[in-house]
Amino acid sequence: MSRRTLSFICQHCGAAHSRWQGKCEGCGEWNTLVEEGGERPAGPGRRPGKGRAFALEPLSGGAEDAPRCASGIGEFDRVTGGGFVRGSVLLLGGDPGIGKSTLLIQAAAALARAGQRAVYISGEEAVAQVRLRAERLGLRDADVELAAETAVEDIITTLSQGKTPRLIVIDSIQTMWTDLVDSAPGTVTQVRGSAQTLIRFAKRSGATIILVGHVTKDGQIAGPRVVEHMVDAVLSFEGEGSHQFRILRAVKNRFGPTDEIGVFEMTGAGLREVANPSELFLSERDLGQPGTAVFAGIEGTRPLLVEMQALVAPSSLGTPRRAVVGWDPSRLSMVLAVLEAHCGVRLGGHDVYLNVAGGLRIHEPAADLAAAAALVSSLTGAPLPADAVYFGEVSLSGAVRPVAHAAARLKEAAKLGFTRAVVPDIARAETADPGLSPGEVASLTDLVTRIAASGKSRGQDG
Ligand code: TYD
Ligand code: MG
Repeated sequence: MSRRTLSFICQHCGAAHSRWQGKCEGCGEWNTLVEEGGERPAGPGRRPGKGRAFALEPLSGGAEDAPRCASGIGEFDRVTGGGFVRGSVLLLGGDPGIGKSTLLIQAAAALARAGQRAVYISGEEAVAQVRLRAERLGLRDADVELAAETAVEDIITTLSQGKTPRLIVIDSIQTMWTDLVDSAPGTVTQVRGSAQTLIRFAKRSGATIILVGHVTKDGQIAGPRVVEHMVDAVLSFEGEGSHQFRILRAVKNRFGPTDEIGVFEMTGAGLREVANPSELFLSERDLGQPGTAVFAGIEGTRPLLVEMQALVAPSSLGTPRRAVVGWDPSRLSMVLAVLEAHCGVRLGGHDVYLNVAGGLRIHEPAADLAAAAALVSSLTGAPLPADAVYFGEVSLSGAVRPVAHAAARLKEAAKLGFTRAVVPDIARAETADPGLSPGEVASLTDLVTRIAASGKSRGQDG
């Protein structure tokens, strides 16, 4: 009885309230409460208080046969940790039009071609539309089973017949509805109820289910966060609308790493795997322009070279602008503060813009040194050497600290034709010489002096 009265659910955080109110007490959002029918207790109808005895199993039991199944798309498998785990459920989020449906129909087709049963259930598009896309992608011959369905119970009954599918794609979870819940499709309760039912089916049958999740305008997967807790892995598909490449990232992964990325390029014929992403992110390199520095980064276990661009310009505003795309704004503030406090670089009267080329997002502190180099280069108008890479973490004292995976970063840089590396001085000690000429810096002041000196000598030459 008391369950029934808690029927105003916040569509933002999933908190339940007993009466309508303008502001959700759970998350502080306004106008997010929607009246929803209560949830009947999930699970097969059993009398409460009367459980069924089940057998407990030892931890040492033998694993079942081939727990993982490679998708046939290398970049996808890299992110999931080597393929789809039997009975696991993945949630794939991403902006509308980023290519979620395209990626999943390609994955389903690859599995079907490998002789596995793959089912694609679309709640958003008609079968004809899915076929049209498949045709465009050259997948007409792949034996993927299609349906346009939204009733979860019907889907499960259908899929329980015949051979268990290896992969089931549900596009999208927000369009699904289950009989267990009275609310409208797309509401928090429905999304949660449908996800729960599908997850139970996956665990029971051993099929892998991929749920597509919509993303709200602030980048969260729409619907309750609890769905993220319920599934085994949360993947996010990212990219910039104006750029062709897309990045698949694991936000959570119970069966693999969360730091690997998969890189794809959206082409006229679907998503193409990009095995060497550095070349992609450096292809638009503004060689020899002031304000650009190449950062030798690491994404997961893979080195990735990207270009950081800075523009420092005199400001006409009382409070100068600081704008960052692709990097953490608070790290930019920190680097600017260290430049001011320890290196005598005055930026208080300048607008500062920092951009990571190609729309990539960098999460590593190792990018500090490259960002600082780009900033100083833009301020002084002195271009950085086009054949140099930068990495290192800047500490608040102005020292440049070594970062992990220095050898892998240097090797990648050498492979792509870079001949100089400006790195923390300890980094060289741990690496065998990869053929890059040394350019160690111990502190940010070293770097600033060096860039300023190169600017001066260039001024005298010209
Ligand atoms: P889609 O997979 O429908 O996105 P989502 O399911 O994430 O909403 O992809 C839609 C976009 O991808 C659309 O803007 C067109 C583009 N696209 C291509 O560029 N090439 C292709 O071969 C396909 C199928 C789509
Ligand atoms: Mg879609």
